[in-house]
Amino acid sequence: MKSMNPSETHENIENLCPLDVTELKGRKTDFELYLDIAGKPVLYAEGPYEWSLSEIERLNHDGFSVLFYSKSNDDKVLQLLAQQSMDPVTLLHSDRVQQEQQDRVSLLLQTYRDWVSNVDLAPEQHEMAEEATTLVMETVSQNPTLIELLQALSEHDYYSFHHSMRTAAYGAVISIKLGCQTSQHLHDIILGCLVHDIGHLKVSKETLEKSERLNEREWFEIKQHPLHGMELLREVPLSPVTSEIVLHHHERVDGHGYPHGIKGSELLQEVKIVAFCDVFDALTSPRPYQKPVEFEQALSFIEQNALEYLDKRSFEVMGELIRGQKVKAPA
Ligand SMILES: [Fe+2]
Ligand SMILES: [Fe+2]
Repeated sequence: MKSMNPSETHENIENLCPLDVTELKGRKTDFELYLDIAGKPVLYAEGPYEWSLSEIERLNHDGFSVLFYSKSNDDKVLQLLAQQSMDPVTLLHSDRVQQEQQDRVSLLLQTYRDWVSNVDLAPEQHEMAEEATTLVMETVSQNPTLIELLQALSEHDYYSFHHSMRTAAYGAVISIKLGCQTSQHLHDIILGCLVHDIGHLKVSKETLEKSERLNEREWFEIKQHPLHGMELLREVPLSPVTSEIVLHHHERVDGHGYPHGIKGSELLQEVKIVAFCDVFDALTSPRPYQKPVEFEQALSFIEQNALEYLDKRSFEVMGELIRGQKVKAPA
């Protein structure tokens, strides 16, 4: 469900046509549908949308027996009503499948959600984080490819999976602190973090878990993962910000990163935030080749060795959070 943000209202309800919500049971829509909130239309569903039994029941229970659509979508509504709805057994099954999928996603994203909900933020910042998290959960729940890829990553490389969750948590908080304005924008950043290392699925376990120095072939293999990530995600609709994060999170401000060696001036701020969080988590998490360091030690290390190629603003925000005791390492 879209968040019911009053800023999304843009037409008069009188100009829209009513549609009985029970007509939507077991059907898919691909046009905008609005709620009537005190005489104003508020966007409820858009794009490809599957209507489950439980959602229809919830709408009815909440007093929304009718949704509204733009007259320009008359043809789509007629086509929709002409289609046969799924039979009740299939519908109940699809409802159960949908619930199972939501539970699966909820479990997959637990590390990220726990950490963000425990960070000490201002109430309005928490509200934005929660809204963005809800949007991310919806995006992932509604995209079987994303669920499969995240599940596969958790099985292929436990470290990469949880590293992605923590990177998302740090990335969300730093983005909010650096002035991210909307929950949709924050959603794009969080999603980028969650899938930034999905290309590790194409890197062998041996290389990912190797405790000795990587040889040239293994290093080449690792350097391909942003490109592999884009390839694995090619059929998932991603915003430009999310795609940039996947493709360029190993680029460096000084131009010495990979896969393209582009410089700071060409990198999005969102990408620089994720690149910082990526390194910060790599330092503070246990790996076969290193012991983790405390948050404060990681910051000192970055200050002494990596500030010329990482984002200074992210470094400063993380410093303030740590000094203010507003964050701690995930359990
Ligand atoms: Fe990476
Ligand atoms: Fe990473």
